[in-house]
Amino acid sequence: MAQDFSAMTKRAVILDCDPGQDDAVAILLALASKDDIDLLGITTVAGNVPLGLTESNARRICELAGRPDMKVFAGASQPLMRKLVTAEWIHGRTGLDGANLPDPTMPLQEQHSVDFIIDTCRTASDGSITLCPIGPMTNLALAFMKAPDIVPKVQEIVCMGGAVKEFGNTTPAAEFNIYVDPQAAKVVLDTGIKLTMMPLDVTHKALVTPERLQRMKDLNSPVGDVCGGMLDYFNRFDMTRYGFDGGPLHDPCVIAYLIKPELFSGRNVFMDIEVTSELTMGQTLADWWDIQEKEPNAYICDDLDVEGFFDLLIQRLAVFG
Ligand code: RIB
Ligand code: CA
Repeated sequence: MAQDFSAMTKRAVILDCDPGQDDAVAILLALASKDDIDLLGITTVAGNVPLGLTESNARRICELAGRPDMKVFAGASQPLMRKLVTAEWIHGRTGLDGANLPDPTMPLQEQHSVDFIIDTCRTASDGSITLCPIGPMTNLALAFMKAPDIVPKVQEIVCMGGAVKEFGNTTPAAEFNIYVDPQAAKVVLDTGIKLTMMPLDVTHKALVTPERLQRMKDLNSPVGDVCGGMLDYFNRFDMTRYGFDGGPLHDPCVIAYLIKPELFSGRNVFMDIEVTSELTMGQTLADWWDIQEKEPNAYICDDLDVEGFFDLLIQRLAVFG
């Protein structure tokens, strides 16, 4: 008997991530939003740091949130075709530098992330599962390649990745999640599933300024303290590189979109991904002005109500006490 998630007012979500401090805040926001998000499981992938750290970091955050029952899965340890590129220069050796969390004691699920995605979709009704990749999309690509029958089960893919009118953050052309596994991103894009993308164009507006960081610390809770410490560390790189007055909170934009899509604005456009030229590998080339008049295949956000975003985030983080 298929489970009909589509009739639910809240989203049935699989969060695919590579924690990373911003992924960690996205996990916390999702766990704090039970009325909006039924988090079916957290699948992890190599990205910001190798898989052994991304999966244990996901478990560290679930335990911090008081959710040792959450199902966390390990997935792909490398991209489909390219050598893994990690980002310790931003996230630190542990991937959660600044958090100072103990090793996890909750179990890692034995099932592989890809098989969890497949099995969950196969037992769901059509159009009822929301997939949220906020790291390289290797797990999702492998799931669609192994089980193309699951495509109709997916209601929407809401991802963090890409750069449209912004330059990339990993090369001048490419944002990290897409750059690490451009072939995987192309497989996901070509499924034709409704795709909503949070590129650097919008996440570079979600800046954790000192005032916003202090609001997190003022929660006076373990979660608030950990977010304060993590983001203090995470902020430094982008503030130095771009001269921002805070670090960009990339991944929580995806979760906030699920909760309050009205916080965001963007455009339906045709987009494609560079998977051959090394010069522009991983570029998300969007026809923002509809020059080629091709059928749009992605809803790309380029703006947000930033005060509303942080009000939502901090209000939800407060639920952890
Ligand atoms: O480019 C930013 C993205 O790459 C974020 O998801 C960050 O966590 C890293 O995965
Ligand atoms: Ca990420």
